[in-house]
Amino acid sequence: MARISVFGIGYVGAVAAACLARDGHKVIAVDTDETKVDLINRGQSPLVETGLGNLIAQGIDSDRLFATSDASFAIDQTDVSFICVGTPSDPSGALDLTFIKEVSRQIGQELRDKDTMHSVVLRSTVLPGTSDDVCLPLIERHAGKTAGRGFGFGYYPEFLREGSAIEDYDDAGLVVFGALDEATRNFLHMLNATQDCCLHEVGLRTAEMVKYTSNSWRATKVTFANEIGNIAKACGLDGHEVMDILCADHKVSMSPKFLRPGFAFGGSCLPKDIRALKHLADRTQTPTPLLSAVLDANDAQVLRAERMVRESGAHHVGLVGVSFKPGTDDLRESPLVDLAARLLGQGINVSIYDPFVARIAQEQGEDRFRKSKLPQLKHMLVQDLADLVNEADALVIGNFYAETVEILREASVTKPTIDLTRLRRDMVSTGTYEGICW
Ligand SMILES: NC(=O)c1ccc[n+]([C@@H]2O[C@H](COP(=O)([O-])OP(=O)(O)OC[C@H]3O[C@@H](n4cnc5c(N)ncnc54)[C@H](O)[C@@H]3O)[C@@H](O)[C@H]2O)c1
Repeated sequence: MARISVFGIGYVGAVAAACLARDGHKVIAVDTDETKVDLINRGQSPLVETGLGNLIAQGIDSDRLFATSDASFAIDQTDVSFICVGTPSDPSGALDLTFIKEVSRQIGQELRDKDTMHSVVLRSTVLPGTSDDVCLPLIERHAGKTAGRGFGFGYYPEFLREGSAIEDYDDAGLVVFGALDEATRNFLHMLNATQDCCLHEVGLRTAEMVKYTSNSWRATKVTFANEIGNIAKACGLDGHEVMDILCADHKVSMSPKFLRPGFAFGGSCLPKDIRALKHLADRTQTPTPLLSAVLDANDAQVLRAERMVRESGAHHVGLVGVSFKPGTDDLRESPLVDLAARLLGQGINVSIYDPFVARIAQEQGEDRFRKSKLPQLKHMLVQDLADLVNEADALVIGNFYAETVEILREASVTKPTIDLTRLRRDMVSTGTYEGICW
């Protein structure tokens, strides 16, 4: 079993650390955020993700998982380091590599005095050339060693989806990596030995590009399905039925994932990754009309929902779901946050029911939302769905939560209800109920 340090305990790092410990590896999770370090060491998850709390608790109980902010200790006690720090957008849409540079410097410094071979495996989403042009020179300079000989290096992107992260970790669907040396290559093959898919071993730059290709394709699928849904609705047709039929065409390997008409895509990956790819294309004078259209169409879907709410004449909206999708508390670039902020901006009062965000609000308080577009979110949250239904004069269903279906279906018979997710397949726009594209 391997000894692995995981730098960055966000959605990717926390899931990787917990799953690696579950699989028998000795794992040290490293983060600069002491709150996350403390939570892990108390056996608690720093974020809401199905099954993650249990795995972290088991990892701590079995002594296979430990968290620290001490990078030096982590490098000393392990043979492989995963880099899972954030790569957000900067204001121009370019990739902000601040965290990547900092962690590369830190790891390089710690490798200087280490006399055994250590592999660094980058898992964050980075544009082609980032490993070669940014990480490796920094690690080499600070370590005083050459990549591939003095230390190992690989790029191994993560494809998990929040909300089904552990399931996706175990059944990735796509595994691609590049490695500069034998030790890192063997480690990545060992780690993926049980994956039920082909392992693609390629150059670092190709692996980096595949990650952006995958996310751009996912975003394009969402937008395409939404547009088909919008057109189908205008023709009195059921867009979900149309897309189900398209997705049944396995001859061209069509995966139904991301091809379900509904609301805009969001989250911490698809929007910023499309922006970064477009930014790169602009720098290389490569026209990207399709990717630009995908972003424009995504914004248009938020405006469509906003218009539907305005047309309902509601003064107080009850919003069901605010994270970017059910099963997670992640608010980053959530189109529902955007919609709520727009409604507030129009003078419409908004109350929110979201069981996942409510959990984290209770545990971690107001600070968690300070940087979001809804800094007052904690005070907008309603614990009881029945209260939300009673208080609001229109309902907006943003995320699907199984336990809410019957209450919301019943309410939709008398109260204006705008459904962005489709509560049930037999529900079509009629009376006070309106689906965004069905
Ligand atoms: N969230 C997803 O669903 C997902 C899926 C696949 C890939 N990715 C990619 O993986 C990367 C991480 O995403 P995330 O959502 O987990 O990020 P995140 O922002 O949730 O977490 C990043 C963590 O890194 C920590 N950090 C920053 N600098 C550090 C340092 N020097 N040492 C140790 N820790 C440090 C931060 O405190 C934070 O806890 C990004 O590149 C993202 O695009 C994300």
